[in-house]
Amino acid sequence: KTLKDGSFTWSSPSNIALIKYWGKKKDQIPKNPSISFTLNHCKTTTTVSFTKKERSNHFSFEVFLSGEKKEDFKPKIEIFFKRVEIYLPFLKDYHFKIETTNTFPHSSGIASSASGMSALALCLMSIEKSIELADNKRDIKMSDEFFIQKASFLARLGSGSACRSLEGDLVVWGKHDKIEISSNLFGVKYPFEVHENFKNYQDTILLVDKGEKQVSSTIGHNLMHKHPFAEARFKQAHKNLSRLITILKDGNLDAFIEVVESEALTLHAMMMTSLPYFILMKPHTLEIINKIWAFRQKTNSKVCFTLDAGANVHILYPENEIKNVLKFINNELVTYCQKGEYINDKIGFGSELI
Ligand code: PMV
Repeated sequence: KTLKDGSFTWSSPSNIALIKYWGKKKDQIPKNPSISFTLNHCKTTTTVSFTKKERSNHFSFEVFLSGEKKEDFKPKIEIFFKRVEIYLPFLKDYHFKIETTNTFPHSSGIASSASGMSALALCLMSIEKSIELADNKRDIKMSDEFFIQKASFLARLGSGSACRSLEGDLVVWGKHDKIEISSNLFGVKYPFEVHENFKNYQDTILLVDKGEKQVSSTIGHNLMHKHPFAEARFKQAHKNLSRLITILKDGNLDAFIEVVESEALTLHAMMMTSLPYFILMKPHTLEIINKIWAFRQKTNSKVCFTLDAGANVHILYPENEIKNVLKFINNELVTYCQKGEYINDKIGFGSELI
């Protein structure tokens, strides 16, 4: 019996990379492995309602963000649908209403593509699963592991880093010789021991610049094709991930700081040394970095920073430092945030079916 209609809601978090993904091959295959902390508070919740229609040659869908119809989101979703159609053959048999909300402000400069694309991919997987059940297509029920893996595979085709948002609390994407289960096609839960120093690790996101991104990540990744330092960078990412495996096991926070901050600065160095070149940090980004370094010199704090492809600063620190670091942020860093705004987040555990 063919399924006529229905709806599914998933929430999925954003993530922050410790080892950065920057540079890709065809079909969103990363040029180097990356690893990220899954966030807890910064999330997208998406409901996809579907209604059976006559099969046609085009996709039929509408998109709403916080209740408002978003025509400008449609091209990105159209591209996504085209890419995943061969893996989800039902896409042209239904009309979809996609309703999405973010816990963080849309114009905060926090990319919603990881949380948004992973939430959408999960809704589509739920639809596929329910169609299969209704059609009685499979002898063996789709396993939870397969479900998540395929959703991550699909999310990757929407936005590379989105494949790291489905599970927590650390996710690896991209083949690495020390992580046997790692894959270029989807994210996998970090399989090794993690020291309790990293339990409940905190991430306070300082909103330095809430404007639109200067460079889309697609353009950014493509700049790595003819980049003079590309090969050295990809090698370095492999090495840094090897180092991080030991650091995560031993709980060595000084070494953690070194790898994480170096990765953030390298990401920006790649943008500054590509053609065309870009500076995505703002003066306030640098002020914050200098203040963090001074604070570490003055105190015993293990606070450090990381950056995405933008000016906002993620401040990472152990749970036992919450009080001190928040005091430091309020006394010394808030002044560099647009309208004094920041978001307190921490490591989270991935997506949820609502
Ligand atoms: O997922 P994309 O294509 O938007 O790329 C994001 C890349 C960075 O956020 C800069 C780094 C990363 O690994 O998340």
